[in-house]
Amino acid sequence: QQRRTVLGIETSCDDTGAAVVDEVGNILGEALHSQTARHNQTGGIIPNVAKELHTQKVESVVQDALNSAKMRLEDVDAIAVTVKPGLIMSLRVGLVHAQKLAHLTRHQLIPIHHMEAHALTARMIERVEFPFMVLLASGGHCLLAIAKGIDDFLLLGTSQDTAPGEAYDKVTARELNLIKMPEFEHLSGGASVELMAKQGDHTIFPRVHVMTSRADCDFSFTGLKISARRQILAEYQRLGLDQNQLLPNTSDICAWFQYNVMYHIGRRLQRAFIFTEMKELLGTSKTLVVSGGVASNAFIRLNLEHICSMYGYKLVCPPQKLCTDNGIMIAWNGMEKILSGTNYLQDADSLQVVAR
Ligand code: KG4
Ligand code: ZN
Repeated sequence: QQRRTVLGIETSCDDTGAAVVDEVGNILGEALHSQTARHNQTGGIIPNVAKELHTQKVESVVQDALNSAKMRLEDVDAIAVTVKPGLIMSLRVGLVHAQKLAHLTRHQLIPIHHMEAHALTARMIERVEFPFMVLLASGGHCLLAIAKGIDDFLLLGTSQDTAPGEAYDKVTARELNLIKMPEFEHLSGGASVELMAKQGDHTIFPRVHVMTSRADCDFSFTGLKISARRQILAEYQRLGLDQNQLLPNTSDICAWFQYNVMYHIGRRLQRAFIFTEMKELLGTSKTLVVSGGVASNAFIRLNLEHICSMYGYKLVCPPQKLCTDNGIMIAWNGMEKILSGTNYLQDADSLQVVAR
């Protein structure tokens, strides 16, 4: 008997992604179009521009994924598409295209929650049994949860303001002018800060204390964002440089910023481990799955590994290309839904996109 396959389509933010996976987690075909270089020119995502680029690319990205799988649309067993959360205009492009494909093939659709897809990607790579803890850190979110089932999550904490990726992109990378540097043209703010931070000294400024008196697992990145902005501005003034120039101590500032992001995430994770232990939310095999764009940061991962080993957790990180947005995780999430035996298929026309 042939293995079942799912086509996944992702357009929730600034990546147009599509992929075909089978029921044992083989990636049969994939395609991704990143809008990063375009958004770097304006210093951030402009929703209209993102929508336009998705509209231009969605058809060819889906076709490329099918071609690389050597499959026709009729060959796949189901189509899964991200419907929330994300930028409404971007989400809509993916859904409308999926609806078009559904009509062509008389398929129904499997609606996908983008964050759940991030959380479950690890199960495509290796055996991770429910329940497990999951940390998602990306450009739009930061959250800790216990994954109890494929659509059953107990939220332990979430960012009360901005997401860490946004702090990387909108403050550090932008205000240090990294996004204007040709060598970082195709990199996200986070990835360029990580590269610069490698040679830096994080002790250049004092550590920023975040939520130290909050006995929960929530996150906050606005304080760090404001602090970074203030420190960068002060450096320009101190050195008498124009704000379009590159600061000579850019590496140190990146290292300082990244150290603070890591420290805050690590602290909250420790709280989550203690809380989980107290409430006996996990069994004896304790696993932490980490995903999302910020989690692809090697420095942050290394430190999470230390904390995990302190608390007896096994750390599972999907490879980097599965941590950032992609169509594979959407296809896999659709497949998990099929494998669960519950009917998650819905009439294409009944679906709507939701921002949060
Ligand atoms: O998960 P993702 O691709 O999209 C969503 O936000 O859902 O995450 C993108 C975010 C961006 O803010 C980007 O700057 C950040 O993840 N990012 C990183 C790294 N690579 C991507 N942040 C820190 N270090 C990285 N290496
Ligand atoms: Zn994402």
